[in-house]
Amino acid sequence: MHDFTFQNPVKIHFGHEKLALIGEELKKFGKRVLLTYGGGSIKRIGLYDRVVEEVKKAGMELYELPGIEPNPRIGSVRDGARLCKEHNIDVLLAVGGGSTIDCTKWIAAAACVDHDAWDFFDYEKWPPVNKALPIVSVLTLSATGSEMDSGGVISNPETNDKRGRLSPLLFPKVSFLDPTLTYTVSPYQTACGSADIFSHLMEEYFTTGEPMFMIDTFIEGMMRTIVRYAPIAMREPDNYEARANLMWASSWAINGLIGADKGQAWSCHPMEHELSAVYDITHGHGLAILSPRWLEFCMDDETMPRIARFGITVFGLDPTLPQRELALRAIDQLGHFLFDILGLKRTLPELDIDESHFDSMAAKAVLPYKGTIPGFRPLTKDDVVSIYRMCMK
Ligand code: NZQ
Ligand code: ZN
Repeated sequence: MHDFTFQNPVKIHFGHEKLALIGEELKKFGKRVLLTYGGGSIKRIGLYDRVVEEVKKAGMELYELPGIEPNPRIGSVRDGARLCKEHNIDVLLAVGGGSTIDCTKWIAAAACVDHDAWDFFDYEKWPPVNKALPIVSVLTLSATGSEMDSGGVISNPETNDKRGRLSPLLFPKVSFLDPTLTYTVSPYQTACGSADIFSHLMEEYFTTGEPMFMIDTFIEGMMRTIVRYAPIAMREPDNYEARANLMWASSWAINGLIGADKGQAWSCHPMEHELSAVYDITHGHGLAILSPRWLEFCMDDETMPRIARFGITVFGLDPTLPQRELALRAIDQLGHFLFDILGLKRTLPELDIDESHFDSMAAKAVLPYKGTIPGFRPLTKDDVVSIYRMCMK
């Protein structure tokens, strides 16, 4: 266990009635608001009208940036930053899933500088984030945890790069979490979002070193929450209990708490970001395909007890079984959950992905780590290629 400092400054309003507080919260930051959203789901679910009404009631000036893409692109960040500068925007209101919130975070930063927005993600330049406009978010999809973390992931289609970066200035000031807003999320996106949350938990659970009991059991509890409620939310989209559990787990899986004592790199995320950078697939689906293969790749005498414990506590395996059998069954159970219960496709070719970019994707995945991702098991470029290959069948 490492020494740590934990601070999460995001104010959360949870529940349906809380949306009435949007205007009041926004007003604290000024008068001119830029509303950002995706491809139109917020209009289809009636949320756009509701939000506009609250902003108008608060007497604020409203500007809009629609059309933020899933796997949001640097072009949208540039467009948003330009609008902020043109209209002297005081506060950003992001309404949507992780893509909209991530994009809005980097708009908030890019609006305060003269350099190009992509410079923030250029490893050679890496300018500091010294200032950012305040962000209020209304979450409509339980997945990334962007509503309660300080990171955002942006794609550059010109270079096939997808890069994430954190800054304490990019935490939303306030996030609205209303589980009823996720009733319209499709079974497929619910499955992908749940796989994403589960992966965030795995990235902090499968670490080397002595885990802290309190954090370990908290992670296992959240994993069991996903295993229990994701299938219910897929079957019964308007089941409040299921949607509420997924939503709150999405925030707590990545808001800093469970990773504070670790200080170890994530493994599946750098590998997945390369897949969605090149093939524009849904992030959670890429993670689902990678996760069981990665765990299998990591299994050795040292990591086996941890994988076995995961099988016992999360999937209820019989603790009297031999450790190797427990670990192997745990990996099977994980695949069963992701592919049979959530119904996600289990191989890369099923998403039209072949081996042609494995080499360059693996090189990019390990680049920020100077050649080796220092995770549960250190991963070199060749290891990453091997894991991609394991996902072919
Ligand atoms: O664009 P619209 O029309 O809004 O439709 C979206 C989109 O097509 C739709 N959707 C969202 N809410 C809905 C809805 N459809 C019906 N009803 C609703 N209530 O769902 C689709 C996917 O939305 P998106 O925002 O792309 O999904 P997600 O929340 O999974 O975000 C994915 C992005 O976040 C990044 C991913 O890499 C990816 O780019 N991540 C961000 C992280 C962070 N900030 O900490 C961590 C994650 O690991 C992840 O990397
Ligand atoms: Zn993720």
